[in-house]
Amino acid sequence: MRLLENREWDSLFSAACEAMEKAYAPYSKFPVGAAALVEDGRIVSGCNVENASYGVGLCAECSLISNLVMAGGGVLTAFPCVDGHKKVLMPCGRCRQLLFEHSAEDMLLQTPSGTRTISEVLPQAFGPRELKDFYDE
Ligand code: THU
Repeated sequence: MRLLENREWDSLFSAACEAMEKAYAPYSKFPVGAAALVEDGRIVSGCNVENASYGVGLCAECSLISNLVMAGGGVLTAFPCVDGHKKVLMPCGRCRQLLFEHSAEDMLLQTPSGTRTISEVLPQAFGPRELKDFYDE
């Protein structure tokens, strides 16, 4: 696993805070910003986008993944997300699954309890490999 230098975490954290400032969260009033480092050095980010039909609101990670794919895709190696107080936030369960699909095996996440790998925060994940194994049998 490649450990990130502090300045790399700082850049990711700043990108997450910048994204959070763009959040559209008039209903929950809980803005979220997310950022991730791509294997090739790019940084992608996203914010939550809520909706008057509450249930269809999008999490910040959803916007991040859309931005990643629209920018040509890539493998994510490190990730923080922040709330409106710029405090590190734990991504929700659905978002861990969204991130898993595009994550490096040892992707690192900043969490309120320290740095964790994707497999620590989403153990025994269902992913692309399960589908491949099934169809290849
Ligand atoms: N939210 C995110 O954007 N990401 C998460 O991982 C947790 C929750 C958003 C969804 C909603 O707009 C607001 O936070 C309050 O739940």
